[in-house]
Amino acid sequence: MTALEWLVTTSHYQDQLIVLQTLFERVKLKGKSLLPIVQGGMGVGISAHRLAGTVASYGALGTISSVDLRRHHPDLMAQTNLTKNKDKELINSVNLIALDREIKAAKQLSGGNGAIAVNVMRAVAEYAPYVRQACESETDAVVVGAGLPLDLPDLTANFPKVALIPILSDVRGIGVILKRWMRKNRLPDAIVIENPKHAAGHLGAASIADIDNPAFQFTSVLPGARQLFKDLGIEGENIPLIAAGGVHTHEQVGSLLAMGADAVQLGSAFAVTQEGDAHINFKRVLAEAKPEDIVTFMSTAGLPARAVRTPWLENYLDKEAKMQRIAKVKPCTAGFDCLHQCGWRDGNDKAGQFCIDTQLAFALAGDVKRGLFFRGSEKLPFGSAIRPVRELIEYMIAGLKPAFMSAAAPTVVPAYSYTESTTV
Ligand SMILES: Cc1cc2nc3c(=O)[nH]c(=O)nc-3n(C[C@H](O)[C@H](O)[C@H](O)COP(=O)(O)O)c2cc1C
Repeated sequence: MTALEWLVTTSHYQDQLIVLQTLFERVKLKGKSLLPIVQGGMGVGISAHRLAGTVASYGALGTISSVDLRRHHPDLMAQTNLTKNKDKELINSVNLIALDREIKAAKQLSGGNGAIAVNVMRAVAEYAPYVRQACESETDAVVVGAGLPLDLPDLTANFPKVALIPILSDVRGIGVILKRWMRKNRLPDAIVIENPKHAAGHLGAASIADIDNPAFQFTSVLPGARQLFKDLGIEGENIPLIAAGGVHTHEQVGSLLAMGADAVQLGSAFAVTQEGDAHINFKRVLAEAKPEDIVTFMSTAGLPARAVRTPWLENYLDKEAKMQRIAKVKPCTAGFDCLHQCGWRDGNDKAGQFCIDTQLAFALAGDVKRGLFFRGSEKLPFGSAIRPVRELIEYMIAGLKPAFMSAAAPTVVPAYSYTESTTV
């Protein structure tokens, strides 16, 4: 059967939305049958309603990153900008309004296809309010990384229709979550297994040295997780395993599914799609980065992180050791204490010494000099080209290469006109 036959695009038309099909097994998530491809949550503002809603419209799982979404809403941003003494309660409350708007807009864009998830980092101070708001705004799933979401079943107990998906990196972490949740009579509805060796953003390793630990390899975690399910007597349950980190070819998808994954999650590749919610400059920085431009360093959240060595990061890394030596407790510079533990505010000399919200917001707005641009270590499926979501999904699930890859076409398409206002 040819790749074209694999991909039947006529199954379901609704307002010109086309649900793509795949001969790879579909994934079952709380009664929904989805394509085996997930768009990972990306903050600040990189995956908002446009990206997540578009991904869902094709029948896959699109994820909104919950953190500081007011930055996509000029009216909400204006309210908080006017506050002289940064009003933490006000910033937190408008961010919940922004999350509600983004979920509703993504669902509308999806046309009822696929599913919409909300990503909440455990390390974020407003973790519990974000989870509750996501459920109240009728997200299909809550995905939690950057820490162990031991209490997620309690927080979501009144919303049994919402799928719960932890992001973990090794079998030990999966075991901790399973055992704790089983005591509450709950199982994850899926698990994202993110490999810190290749993924973007915050990494699920204790230190930079730990990133290469073989315990994180998919060849170890995928069979290890299946064995753990057997040991715990839950091998008959539907708990799809979603492999994330460095996935960039159709062939890789096939081999990960053969290895025991049920789906793959991509971050960097979706961030640079035409429908990605960030400024075009953000996409260009990620798409044009060379392997030697990508670095790992300690984030303010106390976790290793991976990003492109742009001017701000280069300058920061030059000064990092000195800044860590003089680290001291100080008030939050962004005024809303976004992290439970922030190395910069708390004077932790083992963690990053910068305001992560401010730097990520510069990147969202396309400020190449001042932004922090998270990116994975591997190549992108379409090189430096910025292409539509649909082409990315079609390539990953069916191996269909867009015409520009075979023709002698330029690798960078003309600038995508960024129509929505992104205020920082
Ligand atoms: C710009 C950017 C921001 C990200 N932010 C988050 C985040 O807020 N929360 C999270 O769980 N993962 C975050 N990630 C990780 C992605 O969701 C995804 O798991 C990861 O990028 C997969 O690796 P890949 O980029 O090699 O595909 C981010 C990734 C990128 C590229």
